[in-house]
Amino acid sequence: MFLPLLLLPILASHVPLLTSVSSPLSLASHEVYSDESQDDSELPLLLLVNKSKETELHEDWSPEDMVAIDSEFMAPGSRGELRADAAAALENLLKAGEREGHEIRVRSAFRSFAKQGRIFHNKTRRYGFPRASRVSAEAGHSQHQLGTTVDIVLPRYRNRITQRIAKSPEWKWLSSTAHEFGFALSYPRSQEELTGYMYEPWHYRYLGIAAATEMWERDMPMETYLRACREGDRDLRCGDELADDCAGNQSVAQESPRRLLDGEF
Ligand code: DAL
Ligand code: ZN
Repeated sequence: MFLPLLLLPILASHVPLLTSVSSPLSLASHEVYSDESQDDSELPLLLLVNKSKETELHEDWSPEDMVAIDSEFMAPGSRGELRADAAAALENLLKAGEREGHEIRVRSAFRSFAKQGRIFHNKTRRYGFPRASRVSAEAGHSQHQLGTTVDIVLPRYRNRITQRIAKSPEWKWLSSTAHEFGFALSYPRSQEELTGYMYEPWHYRYLGIAAATEMWERDMPMETYLRACREGDRDLRCGDELADDCAGNQSVAQESPRRLLDGEF
């Protein structure tokens, strides 16, 4: 279902709730990526991060190679950081957009475990757990903690997070070009059963050009692609040539206590 207006007010008033969202993933051994278990530089670019309790990012983990995104690419009043490669690719993508006359800005980039926890907690208090968990990840389960993910906004929509951007020329250009710069949409339309999240045309993750392009060429949702990568599907480059980017997907670290800890998605 395509929701044409600002997401949460509409969610709050018009959208029937799904009381349960079937998880696409089976529960397996619990994996926690932490400073002890995972050198920052080795955290796989293609790590599967989703709602599943199989894998979560440690509360203290953040990438070490983060840089600030140039303020000219940020929405007014926002600041953001990404891992260096992702930031460079993002700036190149947005500059290419500008050359085509498309003004695209970033509203949110890296988010710490604690910040994600606050966002999820606030959403839960406001909308209840079932509704909040369709639009927001619990702490340790957000791709934003990877430092490779951005939420993009458009000045023509007052830099608000809205599904309406998907009708814009800027987004049409972005959605057909992002893979050339290594980015892919994490939560496509009509894939909630697979991803666990509603359509988020604003949420792009950097996977590197090879993986993003392979996903694009095969028309595979990121969730499906990264799961296949995790399983070592050798028909895919991610299961073969890109194995290093994927390798840590299989490593298991010690368990750590989980903690549940605005306007952000
Ligand atoms: N909105 C996405 C699911 C997040 O919170 O990471
Ligand atoms: Zn996001």
